[in-house]
Amino acid sequence: MFAAAVKRAAELLRAGEVVALPTETVYGLAANALDVHAVAKIFQIKGRPAHNPIIVHVVDIGMAKNCVADWPPLAAALAKSFWPGPLTLVLVLPRAGKIPDNVTAGGATVGVRWPSHPFMQAVIRECGFPLAAPSANLSNQISPTNAEHVRAQIGGKISLIVDGGQSQVGIESTVLDLTSTPPRILRPGMVHAESLAAVCGEVQSQKSKVQSRDAALRSPGLLEKHYSPKAKLVVLDWRDEAELKFKIRNLKFEINKCHIVAHTTIPTGFSAANVSVIPHDAEAFARALYAELHRCDAASAELIVVEAPPESPEWSGIADRLRRAAA
Ligand code: TXA
Ligand code: MG
Repeated sequence: MFAAAVKRAAELLRAGEVVALPTETVYGLAANALDVHAVAKIFQIKGRPAHNPIIVHVVDIGMAKNCVADWPPLAAALAKSFWPGPLTLVLVLPRAGKIPDNVTAGGATVGVRWPSHPFMQAVIRECGFPLAAPSANLSNQISPTNAEHVRAQIGGKISLIVDGGQSQVGIESTVLDLTSTPPRILRPGMVHAESLAAVCGEVQSQKSKVQSRDAALRSPGLLEKHYSPKAKLVVLDWRDEAELKFKIRNLKFEINKCHIVAHTTIPTGFSAANVSVIPHDAEAFARALYAELHRCDAASAELIVVEAPPESPEWSGIADRLRRAAA
């Protein structure tokens, strides 16, 4: 089964087609990263703006080196610590490389990642070329963390979706720009600033609500409004149920049109269908979050209230996605 699916996916990719594949972060919409026409199909299917570059997925260090002009010691150290895994390294593009302009949105850099999902790895190995793959959702919607999420959004537009189970990480990779000094986090994720700093020394993180325009232009995923559910989303904290209800009424929503995602102070006076409990653990929370948001959209919730995450580094990627979803 596994081998046959790998073969089928690789056949389509070799033929210049686009396929949805599981990765450990979120599902990706993959195409041959060296084929300009195949990559163009990704933009068309997602409705993605041409100025947003796509991450190139590789399956060993040699393949990563082939995509970049220079492989600095810092990249080697980070790869050793975090690859395969949910970290994308932004590096300088070779002057006359094989990576077409639409992958990098015409920029001078390329984002490279070695994913840990065994299926994704097997497909890249079978193809022998790197795969360009953004998240397999329509532009600006929530990333898919299972095959059904992909089918619901873009199933009609692609010829293969490979079901590799629930994505284990659940939010998109950390994007780290190694062309700035010190390295700069363009998109926080589950590989957080402190883990990176332990390997690179200093890192610049995106802390404040006000992103610099420069950073947003370097990585359009940093734009404030992004990764949004259809319902309005707010991040709140509450001491008790009375305070939660008071806050919801203040927002002028009816309690029964409202869905609560809680991790610590669990409301009990709501309809059980309207409350999701995710353990107070950053990894578990990240893994479950998008599925809850997809579920709220499918149930036509009008307001999604998410219990505020802690401010510790482990939760920074989650806090970032919630802030964008609420923008
Ligand atoms: O976990 C992930 O990264 C998933 C899986 C499929 O690998 N992919 C993903 O891709 O989230 P996408 O396209 O949805 O988000 C990629 C982000 C965007 O914010 C993009 O702007 C940024 O990475 N990016 C890609 N290449 C870049 C580059 N050369 N310079 C700066 N930012 C870049
Ligand atoms: Mg995306």
